[in-house]
Amino acid sequence: VKHWTDRLFSFRVTRPASLRFRSGEFVMIGLMGDPHPETGKQKPLLRAYSIASPAWDDELEFYSIKVQDGPLTSKLQHIEPGDEIILRPKPVGTLVHDALLPGKRLWLFATGTGFAPFASLLREPETYEKFDEIVVTHTCRDVAELEYGRQLIEELKADEMMQELIGAEHLAKIRYYPTTTREKSPKMGRITTLLQDGTVFKDLDIDGIHVGTDRAMVCGSLDFNKDILAILEGFGLEEGANSDPKHFVIEKAFVG
Ligand code: A2P
Repeated sequence: VKHWTDRLFSFRVTRPASLRFRSGEFVMIGLMGDPHPETGKQKPLLRAYSIASPAWDDELEFYSIKVQDGPLTSKLQHIEPGDEIILRPKPVGTLVHDALLPGKRLWLFATGTGFAPFASLLREPETYEKFDEIVVTHTCRDVAELEYGRQLIEELKADEMMQELIGAEHLAKIRYYPTTTREKSPKMGRITTLLQDGTVFKDLDIDGIHVGTDRAMVCGSLDFNKDILAILEGFGLEEGANSDPKHFVIEKAFVG
């Protein structure tokens, strides 16, 4: 278990041998709830969590918010090595390569814990086989909240095992674009604003988002997803699904 801030933590658990999933998918996980005051019965408290580890990993990693009065995360934040969690082994989700048409550049747009599915996809060799360039944007309130993602990308590029698995030249395709909205940092502002006013394109020397070349995956709050959807549609991109791959896919990050 690693606590990143007083609002964020990540943890790794043993992977059941039978659990197969595609990088980017989510599962239901949780804990048993408190005993009912009269009957003493306990019910499982389950929520959808993106798997932050890649499909080839022996362990499962999760990245979570801590909500002090949240039914699940108020308890889950106290787990320790050796504890057990409940896992419903039915992985699903739309933030998968199968839901996107081939393209040249992949945009990964995350806010907060929406980075989790991208932590999986960034460690997935297929991501680099399918795209020439991967732009990872992450918007958080403050600098400390960016740390999980920042460290993951830094270590991914420096790790010899990952260089061998994915290829150093492939890892060089990652372009990381972190922004903060409430604390001063080198790049401030919501990614939505920075897309609309063209700052992102200027900073990265990219001439906009185009249907022929650009694909996107989006994971954040409901409002964020709605705003990015409008921006991507404004560029002429269409939302895809597993059964109908198109130019971008969206999923809500777990919030409470
Ligand atoms: P802001 O500070 O302006 O609300 P949270 O921690 O509340 O989940 O938010 C994570 C990040 O997502 C914050 O930096 C927040 O910015 C940003 N954010 C929230 N809503 C939107 C939105 N509709 N479009 C773009 N960014 C958003």
